Amino acid sequence: MVTQPAPGEFKAFSAICPHRGCSVQEVTGGTINCPCHGSKFKISDGSVAKGPATEPLAEAKVTVSGDSIALG
Ligand code: FES
Repeated sequence: MVTQPAPGEFKAFSAICPHRGCSVQEVTGGTINCPCHGSKFKISDGSVAKGPATEPLAEAKVTVSGDSIALG
């Protein structure tokens, strides 16, 4: 799950919801949303914006070079 909190700034997070392990599916209104129980995570740092999740999404490292984004 890759987000762009600000132009040119990219963040990547695990798509596995820390609540019960569903895959988070959509990014809307500044949050990454889990369809299973409605948890929302901030696109800026993966922290919980709305429960029931209590743990943040795990952040992955991304490298931006030119027009491409790579994990790692
Ligand atoms: S598994 Fe994502 S909110 Fe429950």
